[in-house]
Amino acid sequence: MLHLDTMLVHGTKPFDPVTGAISTPIYQSATFRHPALGASTGFDYSRAGNPTCAELEKTIAFLEGGKYGLAFASGMGAISALIKLFHPGDHIIVSEDLYGGTFRLFDEFYAHYGFLFSWVDTSDFSRVTATLRSETKAIFIETPSNPMMKVSDIHLCANLIHQHGGYLFVDNTFLSPYLQNPLALGADFVVHSGTKYLAGHNDTVAGFIVHSRDECEDSLRNIQKSEGAMLSPFDAWLVMRGIKTLGVRMERQSANARRIAHYLRGQTKVEKVFYTGFEDHPQYALSLSQARGHSGMVSFYLKDKADVPVILRNVKVILFAESLGGVESLITYPWEQTHNAIPETMRTNAGVNDRLIRLSIGIEDADDLISDLDAAFLSDRK
Ligand SMILES: Cc1ncc(COP(=O)(O)O)c(C=O)c1O
Repeated sequence: MLHLDTMLVHGTKPFDPVTGAISTPIYQSATFRHPALGASTGFDYSRAGNPTCAELEKTIAFLEGGKYGLAFASGMGAISALIKLFHPGDHIIVSEDLYGGTFRLFDEFYAHYGFLFSWVDTSDFSRVTATLRSETKAIFIETPSNPMMKVSDIHLCANLIHQHGGYLFVDNTFLSPYLQNPLALGADFVVHSGTKYLAGHNDTVAGFIVHSRDECEDSLRNIQKSEGAMLSPFDAWLVMRGIKTLGVRMERQSANARRIAHYLRGQTKVEKVFYTGFEDHPQYALSLSQARGHSGMVSFYLKDKADVPVILRNVKVILFAESLGGVESLITYPWEQTHNAIPETMRTNAGVNDRLIRLSIGIEDADDLISDLDAAFLSDRK
């Protein structure tokens, strides 16, 4: 068995068996000629399947240790497809601290179609147990959560929902398959915003589902084909190229983030730092037991809200933009950006207040990132 770094570089097919091409070709074709009536090459129309996307789907399934991988035009496309496995009246327990777009999709759309959601601090397993009811069909967790870095116990959540006959979904965007494999810990479905660590260069939007549930594969393929949120061949190729360097990027991003997290703890304007790599993080031991590291994500509270615009305006190397996981370090203000769709009281209860800043640390020189933050902290409020 090859090691993970080799698997990332080579995927399931290190070269094209016909031409020898080392980079998977981009099959930029919407449709495919049928050899005869009733016959197919396996590809008919790119909304239903494309050779470049199929190669990426195999790669992501392989990396997550699943039987099936499905590619979508975005992480939200993947999450939306998953929820369509259920019916109005079905109840789903969801991490209360998760990407605001996922909240918006569930609360503004699926809830109106009659799906029932309970928003729970899933890092506290007793609350998950207490929320379970007869109509509960699934638990959906983000771990670590975005942006508060809370860690939920994948194994316990899986056991609980399996005893109840339901499924566990894990959004593994924050760690990527390089650091965490939820299926091996008992999850039924893994979802990814492939836009983030997997693609890694802030240059494309993509999403994935990986699973081994034979009974759901046909439905999911049908949803993928019918809804039309399929990834394009060029974007599939970009993600495949990104995956080759996932290991080296993640190592560098994790090392940089560790330094930044410790640096932030020493800053007088900072009240609290959220980072799963701190030994005093409430779920530090759980993190170590289910993941192989801590990625490049760090959040922090400023003591004074008035410093928020000053810092966002004065960082120069770190870019003020909404996303994460790419080679460029980004700074985000969840209150007004990524988590703005969540009602104010719910946001505040989950810890996402108007003094919270989220950093996605990239692969730049860590000294430059620290100097950049230093200059921003020292900047004038005017
Ligand atoms: C944890 C998480 N899941 C899902 C998504 C949605 O992914 P996309 O933006 O690719 O649709 C995001 C986007 O930021 C995210 O952070």
